[in-house]
Amino acid sequence: MSIRPASRLIPEHVPTPAFVIEEHVLRHNLSILKRVREATGCKMFQALKTWATWELFPIVREYLDGTEVSSLNEARLGYDEFNHNVHMYAPAYKDEEFADILKYCSTIIFNSFGQWKKFKPQVEAFEKETGQKRECGLRINPEHTGKNEHGGLWSPCAPGSRLGIRISEFETALAADPHALDGISGFHFHIFFDKQLPDLADALPVIEEKFGKYFAEMQWINFGGGQQITNDEYDVEGLITLITEFQKKHGVVAHLEPGAATVKLVGALVASVLDIVHRDDVPYKIAVLDMSFNAHTPDFLLSPDLDMPIRGARIVRTASDITQDEHAYQLAGGTCVTGDKLAQFHIFDQPLKHGDRIVMEDGIQYNMVQCTMFNGVQHPAIYFLKETGEMHLIRRFTYDDFRARMG
Ligand SMILES: Cc1ncc(COP(=O)(O)O)c(C=O)c1O
Repeated sequence: MSIRPASRLIPEHVPTPAFVIEEHVLRHNLSILKRVREATGCKMFQALKTWATWELFPIVREYLDGTEVSSLNEARLGYDEFNHNVHMYAPAYKDEEFADILKYCSTIIFNSFGQWKKFKPQVEAFEKETGQKRECGLRINPEHTGKNEHGGLWSPCAPGSRLGIRISEFETALAADPHALDGISGFHFHIFFDKQLPDLADALPVIEEKFGKYFAEMQWINFGGGQQITNDEYDVEGLITLITEFQKKHGVVAHLEPGAATVKLVGALVASVLDIVHRDDVPYKIAVLDMSFNAHTPDFLLSPDLDMPIRGARIVRTASDITQDEHAYQLAGGTCVTGDKLAQFHIFDQPLKHGDRIVMEDGIQYNMVQCTMFNGVQHPAIYFLKETGEMHLIRRFTYDDFRARMG
């Protein structure tokens, strides 16, 4: 087991709000992913939907094979800034974008036989014209939800999901056209969010039972993301064994698309306390911060049951569990939206005061990529804390950035 190193961030040194990415933790996470790659021969692609600080791609490139993208913009970013090994999946493609998608992506994964049939002639024409090969795949939906937390919000296989082809549709399509898989070299499934190895081990037999008989015709199977591979307790050796056996059994190369695993705890979102609001109708105080949960951490509003780990604080879920002598706070954003606050309460050792730093410890994944400038709230700057201890400012956002988005 490889223990993730501690943060070296000194929050008082950071002008807020800011995302701070720490090189030594990033390299730690990436080295675990690289170990899995090297031990198994599988391929790994950084999911840009989770994190896409392109200035740091040269570091990520030392460890991973390429990028996993879901839009033309991400495809271009991966192609321009990472390398030309760009793997794209989107629920549907736009006619007017597909020529560029073919230009930027080495692999294109389709969500339905309808999409595949529609774009197949364009793929073939591109290959003929340019002499460049494009791998094509289909996303399958094994209807395996496992433990279905967060009301199914993050489960791509929950009933009614638009993502992936279910086995009944798959077999109907093949019965109608026995050549429907001609030109398809792989399958893709993405069924997890923040899961451990046993969840993958439980899911694979379900997937094999439904789709396994078609694997022999494939060259690769993409396992998607959602595995906490870099967490201290994750069974990395077990994953290596599982991938090795799977690849041998089916004669395929496994592809993995880690997103969160790359940036898990590699950096914080740091904010400052602007004011403390005292209310006599609740047993906690409200700390108003110079950031916004709406604008900077939208997943936490979508799923109020997600915990926001804060340095130096513990979480209490219900106000009735707060005792009188505790320094209990609800953290709230600085916008004028009523709901711009966390659903949970944080208990600090000391009372908070104006200017105190609040360090949201797992601040990078899915936050940087989803940030908006809602309410004109100051967009967090991006800093890179190098292994040498030097703090490098990657980007500070200005009024011009806000203005440019509005017209
Ligand atoms: C298709 C696909 N691949 C990879 C990922 C990355 O998942 P994670 O960041 O949980 O590892 C996602 C996340 O939604 C996804 O939809």
